[in-house]
Amino acid sequence: METNKTFTMIKPDAVANGHIGAILDQIIKGGFKIVAMKYTWLTPEKAGQFYAIHGERPFFKDLVSFMTSGPIVAAILEKDNAVEDFRKLIGATDPAKAEAGTIRNLFAKSIDANAIHGSDSNENAKIEGDFFFSSFEKF
Ligand code: RTP
Ligand code: MG
Repeated sequence: METNKTFTMIKPDAVANGHIGAILDQIIKGGFKIVAMKYTWLTPEKAGQFYAIHGERPFFKDLVSFMTSGPIVAAILEKDNAVEDFRKLIGATDPAKAEAGTIRNLFAKSIDANAIHGSDSNENAKIEGDFFFSSFEKF
């Protein structure tokens, strides 16, 4: 299993608020290389599949509704120890608890509108990257 890649989405709130450029800047300054990137809009079906692991959670409906409320930017990022280092760069799920200087601390407003996604394991990084990018693309 590769340990040098992770998957991210800049979520609809951050795109709508004009933070794509500033967030990509943080990602690059954090030492990550962008190896695939796509501006797209999730359908409810796709968002439900992506977050299927949370299907039984009380916040699932709100999560799907939020993730389909506007366009997103999906990307595969490369760095040694990518998954763990990227989770540190983005900060805690609830921006009120995110460490100063993290992407969620800087750009997120609430636990729902929390600006960015980062894979939580090497296995999920591969699954999530494959969900958005075809194996015919080189990354
Ligand atoms: P993500 O998957 O988006 O990177 O976020 P995460 O790992 O930090 O958090 P996760 O537990 O995977 O939850 C996915 C998204 O669901 C929303 N959430 N709401 N109201 C709640 O208690 C609650 N818990 C999670 C968040 O928007 C979170 O990013
Ligand atoms: Mg997660």
